[in-house]
Amino acid sequence: MRVRRRGLVMLAAFVSALACAPADEPPPTGSSSRLSNETSTAQAGAPGIGDPDFPQDGNGGYDVSHYDLVIDYTPTTKRLEGVTTIKAGATQDLSSFNLDLAGLGVRQVTVGGSPATFTRQGDELTVRPASKIRTGSTFTVRVAYSGVPKPAKDSANLGTYGFIATADGAFVASEPNGSKTWFPGNDHPADKATFDFAITVPAGVVALANGEQTGQPTTVGGKTTYRWRERHPMATYLATATMGKFETRSGSTPAGIPNFAAADPKFKSSLDGLYTTSGEITDYWSQVFGPYPFSSTGGMVDDYSAGYALENQTKPLYGGFDPDESIIAHELAHQWFGNSLSIKRWKDLWLNEGFATYAEWLWSEHKGSKTAEAFFNEYRQRPADDAIWKYPPGRAKPNDLFNQSVYTRGGMTLHALRQAIGDATFFSLLKTWTAQHRYGHVTTESFVDLAERLSGKQLDALFDAWLFQPRRPA
Ligand code: TRP
Ligand code: ZN
Repeated sequence: MRVRRRGLVMLAAFVSALACAPADEPPPTGSSSRLSNETSTAQAGAPGIGDPDFPQDGNGGYDVSHYDLVIDYTPTTKRLEGVTTIKAGATQDLSSFNLDLAGLGVRQVTVGGSPATFTRQGDELTVRPASKIRTGSTFTVRVAYSGVPKPAKDSANLGTYGFIATADGAFVASEPNGSKTWFPGNDHPADKATFDFAITVPAGVVALANGEQTGQPTTVGGKTTYRWRERHPMATYLATATMGKFETRSGSTPAGIPNFAAADPKFKSSLDGLYTTSGEITDYWSQVFGPYPFSSTGGMVDDYSAGYALENQTKPLYGGFDPDESIIAHELAHQWFGNSLSIKRWKDLWLNEGFATYAEWLWSEHKGSKTAEAFFNEYRQRPADDAIWKYPPGRAKPNDLFNQSVYTRGGMTLHALRQAIGDATFFSLLKTWTAQHRYGHVTTESFVDLAERLSGKQLDALFDAWLFQPRRPA
């Protein structure tokens, strides 16, 4: 009943907008800002999407709906030839707009099929189309580029990320802002889009990307092209084009979700465990967190000693080790927390890492090992001068984003919440949270609001102590 009424109201608004909009313009999508746009001249899109901690990441003035990535990679020369075609909608009149791209040479840019001029400055590629783009219109940008991708560096926690060449291909794990090391785009999780990949590699090399394969690989003249499609919205940092020698296994989870695992020959003995455990955990999380958000699950183990894993959408990537159940539980929990529900700004990263860490504890408890409560109590006993108490996890620092506090104290925050509101409300909160924001964006405030609404409790003091104070909660 409520749904139908809302539908009618929206339809009425749409029709009246059509009636008064000029014939060549789509109906306005939002506020009265359209009036001022009509009187002002077209503006340059902002070089950043508006994340105060990462002012250059992403871009303003448009929203990407789809990336079509065509990549040809030669492991022996480490050279990548790429053509990226982006479909986007303008959120303002645009005289020019930016894409994020680090290094690599740009050969040609077209907008709507017409050549556009472009300039480079740092990691910003500024595109000036031949004619201005009107707010509300959709447009297509095509960038032809090539070069030897250079990975990005994080000094605090993770080392190298982005496109990392390996002996037989590449290990591609781009969080937080490394997608610009291998394709031009709007490199911030506030702008998600669907992806198509066509990746060409020397015959014998395998190319793995997000989502599912569309058809069999085709080999022509000693080169094989693999095609993959992620048909649900995805943040750029979760996109991967991991290449190399791989053994693969595909099928479905016991509950029927398509499952695909891959392992470098050096980790051949990990393949069946990765496949089976990923299937079992995906099915369990679907019970605990709500329906699996994507069209397939799985994972990949590459022979690159990253020592960590990344939750690449549908295909977490494990770097140079045999993944145990705990890390598989972590990366698969991210498919809900981080991938389906994405953060709008990096300081809310505990919404990803705190939840995925808590999921490790829940998995252990489910398996009859250590309970979440026991994990919580153990960490709670860390001395008052321990580093996790100094770092408030609710405000992840740009120069120390992946601090242990964001993971551990973030997870503890959820356990403190569970103790305060009880198991029934806590687990229904998790499901309501994932349902309400499926494929969307979240903030810490929206989580606190929902927790208070579902529990009927005032929880500001709890969240303040656990997320925002530089000291151990009382
Ligand atoms: N999000 C990863 C995790 O599951 C950690 C991570 C952050 C990472 N950035 C990365 C891993 C880059 C690989 C590459 O905790
Ligand atoms: Zn994580």
